[in-house]
Amino acid sequence: MLPKTYQRLEPCTKDIMDKLIIDGGRELTGEVNISGAKNAVLPIMTAALLVDGQVCIKRVPRLRDTGTMVKLLEIVGARTELTGDVLEIDGSTVNNPEAPYELVKTMRASFYVLGPLLARFGRAKVSLPGGCAWGPRPVDLHLKGLEKLGAKITLEGGYIIAEAKRLKGNRIRFEISSVGATGNIIMAAALADGTSVIENAAREPEIVQLCEFINLMGGKINGVGSDELTITGVTSLKPANITVIPDRIEAGTFLMAGAMLGDIKLINAKASHLTTVLDKLEATGAVIDINEDSIRIKQTSEIKPVDVTTAVYPGFPTDLQAQWIAMMSKSTGTAVITDTIYQDRFAHIPELSRLGANIRLEKNEAIVRGTERLKGAPVMSTDIRASASLILAGLAAQGRTDISRVYHIDRGYENIEQKFRNLGAAIRRESE
Ligand code: UD1
Repeated sequence: MLPKTYQRLEPCTKDIMDKLIIDGGRELTGEVNISGAKNAVLPIMTAALLVDGQVCIKRVPRLRDTGTMVKLLEIVGARTELTGDVLEIDGSTVNNPEAPYELVKTMRASFYVLGPLLARFGRAKVSLPGGCAWGPRPVDLHLKGLEKLGAKITLEGGYIIAEAKRLKGNRIRFEISSVGATGNIIMAAALADGTSVIENAAREPEIVQLCEFINLMGGKINGVGSDELTITGVTSLKPANITVIPDRIEAGTFLMAGAMLGDIKLINAKASHLTTVLDKLEATGAVIDINEDSIRIKQTSEIKPVDVTTAVYPGFPTDLQAQWIAMMSKSTGTAVITDTIYQDRFAHIPELSRLGANIRLEKNEAIVRGTERLKGAPVMSTDIRASASLILAGLAAQGRTDISRVYHIDRGYENIEQKFRNLGAAIRRESE
């Protein structure tokens, strides 16, 4: 029996074997509302475990991943209540600082519970996430960081056991900028004894919002938004409310849809989180109009080829690499897309090729030669963003595209087919 809130989140994620059927080639026009950011809400939800009280999170997207996180919070003993898009989490009842393999293997962000549980309870047991469709995704930086804060880390039966009566502030330098490790260490250091400094910290907007949330709860984090964070530990935090920032990856996906297929206005989108993406889109010839909380994008007669190289924020996000490859498949020339963050994150290429895309992969570089016509075909999605790239390509292709394993997309995009249908796409969901 699933906890109640999870059941309430679950129906919107539909059945696990659903597929999407797209009749491509239609123009897309109209407005689309951007949801709260998946990668912001997940660490904020785990930060609720730092508090002996009830926090309130607004604009929570209904996703498979937020459902999984609710389930995990309830397993560790938190109480949750979801009303509309407002999620209340009561951390005062947490009594079981353990995250089981069954959940962590389905969502790596579950590993975010390690830092807060350890900081608050002196012990946490969290399954190692295991493999991933994008190749190895280690968690060594999370563990080294916690060790620097005085935690004793052991591995038992695939589980990390972290122990420390009270964590002690220290200076931590990450050799690679890691979103997850930065988030975990921030949460652990927030309740540690003394001051911690994180050098080469991630600066992604989702990490900025996590810091802001902790500061709202009475935490003391300085340098927010820079790559050096100074965190002065406090003995306890108090409940707070927060509204989740708009999802810049969902926004980027719809911007590309507009640039490929018509004229789309994104409502509740934050252009300042998308500067590199918007610059690249402009270079393709798309016409962009930015207002306070909306962005309008219009297709021009042709898509010029534009190279991108993924990088940490504010660079081009790896989470939009697959979608950019789909867009460049329709360009008038050749574009090179390089992923420096995840060098093996290219499982979408063979599927895009089935739709007629002309892509050659050399190490971590995809060389995409634009083609005039993509043609619909059955394809399979392999991860969240790969699914989004297949939807874009399917919408641009002539004829019918069936995308199977669509549960991947439900992990990270809220009501995606409804949003595209509202823009005029012929896209529907069917059970396989
Ligand atoms: C987060 C995002 C994911 C995004 C990624 C990069 C969430 C829930 N997920 O993932 O959507 O694609 O950032 O922007 O926010 N690394 C190590 N050791 C570690 C941790 C990371 O070597 O302990 C490496 C990774 O292999 C990768 C790089 O660091 O090459 C960046 O990964 P990281 O920023 O940690 O990604 P996630 O937090 O897992």
